[in-house]
Amino acid sequence: MEQFLQSPIKELIGRFPALGTILEDYAIGCVPCSVGTCLLRDIVEIHNLSPGDEEELMGRIAAVVAPGQAVAVPRSGRDRAAGPGKVSYSPPMKMLVEEHRRILRFVALIPALTAGLDVESAEGRGRILDAVDFIRSYADRFHHAKEEDLLFACFDEGLEILKAMHEDHRRGRACVQGVLDALARRDAGGVARNLAEYGEILTEHIRKEDEILYPWMDRNLTTRQVGELYARFREVDETFLEAGERYEAFVRSLEGQYLDAVAEVGR
Ligand SMILES: [Fe+2]
Ligand SMILES: [Fe+2]
Repeated sequence: MEQFLQSPIKELIGRFPALGTILEDYAIGCVPCSVGTCLLRDIVEIHNLSPGDEEELMGRIAAVVAPGQAVAVPRSGRDRAAGPGKVSYSPPMKMLVEEHRRILRFVALIPALTAGLDVESAEGRGRILDAVDFIRSYADRFHHAKEEDLLFACFDEGLEILKAMHEDHRRGRACVQGVLDALARRDAGGVARNLAEYGEILTEHIRKEDEILYPWMDRNLTTRQVGELYARFREVDETFLEAGERYEAFVRSLEGQYLDAVAEVGR
């Protein structure tokens, strides 16, 4: 079993496709993950299942990869005080989670923003350029920079889960470039496609951060690191204060414009 615990998950799923379905039963989405080089051992560790679920999951995995062998479940001694399924974030993580909410409010508006888009008019193009400005300035320069420069820097950048998060950020940036390229070609379909893909990437990325990465990081950061991160995030917020208010106003005005579409998403 030990050799399987040390194997990259995508490789294991390639050899034993049933594993993908088993992991999905525990809301572990390794199959759609863009990187998938996390080791099976890491996956068990970072998802913080209840002891019973973890034992059951390992038993089911073992039955597929090593039938008849004894199962050795790695014990991390991690803090399960919050209990599985209940996430209690530290103050700096809470700040990032709140930023996610604003980004997701914007993502919910993408279909309405691109419906019937007129790229021939300056007004239509301006609407998309404003959206790109929100993504590049708020979601990327402000939020992703906090993650990449401050939070991720507390951990070994070689960790597979961090590589996966960086890759999601990179794919998001590529979509934004795709939006601008399509806009320059006056290609409304290309703008809509790239923005929709951006929305899909960010929605899944934020889910992974909120549900898996941040809780795992919280369990592994020292109290001192949590305090330092909070202070550094506050510094970034201070320098971004005016822009932060402007982007909140931007999302709110879009919500006002596309109220029906927002209600539809909320249903
Ligand atoms: Fe991120
Ligand atoms: Fe994030």
